[in-house]
Parts: sequence; C-alpha cells; structure tokens
Amino acid sequence: MIFAIINDIYTKGNSMKKKVLITGANKGLGLETALQLGLAGHTILITSRNSDNLKNAMNFLASHQIQSFGYIADMLKEDDRIQLAKNIALDHDYLDILINNAGTQLDFPSFMPGNSSETVSQEVLKNTFEVNLFAPIHLTQLLLPLLKKSSAGRIVNVSSIMGSLALHADTKSPIYGIKLLAYNSSKTALNQFTIHLSEALNGTNIRVNSAHPGWVKTDLGGEYAPMSLQEGVKTILDLTQEHCPHGSFIHDGNSIPW
Ligand SMILES: NC(=O)c1ccc[n+]([C@@H]2O[C@H](COP(=O)([O-])OP(=O)(O)OC[C@H]3O[C@@H](n4cnc5c(N)ncnc54)[C@H](OP(=O)(O)O)[C@@H]3O)[C@@H](O)[C@H]2O)c1
Repeated sequence: MIFAIINDIYTKGNSMKKKVLITGANKGLGLETALQLGLAGHTILITSRNSDNLKNAMNFLASHQIQSFGYIADMLKEDDRIQLAKNIALDHDYLDILINNAGTQLDFPSFMPGNSSETVSQEVLKNTFEVNLFAPIHLTQLLLPLLKKSSAGRIVNVSSIMGSLALHADTKSPIYGIKLLAYNSSKTALNQFTIHLSEALNGTNIRVNSAHPGWVKTDLGGEYAPMSLQEGVKTILDLTQEHCPHGSFIHDGNSIPW
C-alpha cells in the first residue's frame, strides 16, 4: 500500500516534469527561463554558440542545483541546426517544450527611435532573418518528431511587439517611431510562422504561440529597459503551461495585435 502511494506520487511527479529546450540560453531571457523552469523541476536543455558561454551558463544553473544538457549551435549555420537536432535525438527520446529564444537586433546599436529602412544593409537583413526566422522554422521542423511524442508539446516563439504590423501602421502607437526594418520584419515573419504552424498542428497535442516578453533589461533590450529578467520571462513561462492558448501573440496574459 505504502509502495503504491509512493509509486503514484512518483508517477504524477514525473508526468509533470517536462523536457525543455531553450535556444540562446547562455544569458538574458533564455538563461533566466532555463533557471525558472529548472527550479520548477523540469529537465533543461540549453544551447549557446560559444563553448565558454555555454559552460558558464551550465555552471550557473548547477549553482542552483539544476543539472542541464548543453549543446553548441550557431543559429546562423544550417549545419549546426541539423547537428543540434541530431544530438538532441541521440540524447532524448522526446521533447515537451521548445523555446525558440535566440535572437538578434543588428539594425542599430540598441533600441532607439529611428528608421533603418533607407540604410539597412543586405548583410544585416540576411543575418537577422537567418537567426530570428529561418533558424526557428528550421529547428522546429527538425524537432517536431520529438515534440510529437510529448503528451502536451509546447512551442514558444520568442517574438516582439516590434513585429506587430497593426501597431507599426498606427501613428499613435508607442512603437510607431522605432522602425528597425530588419529586426521588426523578422519578428513579423516569425509571427506568421506561429499562425501557419498552429493551423498545421490543429488536432495534435502541440500548441504554438508567439511571446512578447516586454521591454527587458538585457544586452539586446539595453540599459533603459524598464523590466527585469524575472518580469520578462513571465510571458514565456505562461506559454509553456498546460492551459496556454494556441496560435496567439501574447504579452502578460493579453493578446497583442498581429
Ligand atoms: N530584451 C527585450 O526587451 C526583448 C523584447 C522583445 C523580444 N525580445 C526577444 O527575446 C529573445 C532573447 O533576447 P534577450 O533580450 O535575452 O537578448 P540577449 O541577452 O542579447 O540574448 C540573446 C541570445 O540569443 C543568442 N544569439 C544571438 N545570435 C545568435 C546566433 N547566431 N546563434 C546562436 N545564438 C544566438 C545570444 O547568444 P550570444 O551571447 O552568443 O550572442 C544570446 O544567448 C530574442 O529573441 C529577442 O528578440 C527581447
């Protein structure tokens, strides 16, 4: 009897323990997400494009009693993404949650009012789209077989309010004056991926959403951002939960105009 109860608790505990992959998790929102999900007892897989940064992030997690699996992958490189998916499939039978977090903003040195439409280079456009759009699409496609083995798969595309076409067309919107063509349009296209993939996954156990974390103090968000990392990961964490929406663009529990 005692064994049965212990076994029951163990089984329930295990069923709530998820396997989570977070890309670009050596710092910023990615690392904080890994920390929070690790503290909640989930199995953490993280990626970084730099081995020292990866080691430091894994040591940081270990200092919080979180053992993680670390993988090197430069999201600019197609071959790295393919190798990453192969390595994950070798180490893990399934994946519950994929957080496409790695991202880059190359238009301007930081978030500032301005418009890069007349000046943005082909190199900046291509590199931004490679990391912010092609990589999440590619990696998601490569990992879908593992996600389909989960009883409740979740894909979180870490997008941005900067990808909202509706708000960029509205002269009264607070983001109207921040026209970073490469970054903003890469996130708009990422949102389109969320919408398209959600339709493709209707009727499966997998839910996919776009998250806007808010304007958060990170290397990408800059020093003037008002939100802390802990506040910034809230939306990402919400979208990993059982009762999350499907095919939505969310910030802090509310929908954002596409
Ligand atoms: N902070 C904000 O206010 C804000 C607002 C809206 C959306 N977001 C989104 O949130 C996500 C995380 O950003 P963050 O604010 O946490 O910025 P961050 O601290 O600068 O972190 C960005 C992460 O992406 C990684 N990355 C960049 N280029 C990469 C590449 N080619 N290959 C692999 N990894 C790469 C970085 O790795 P390295 O350390 O090697 O560069 C880092 O781990 C991004 O998608 C961003 O667009 C942020």
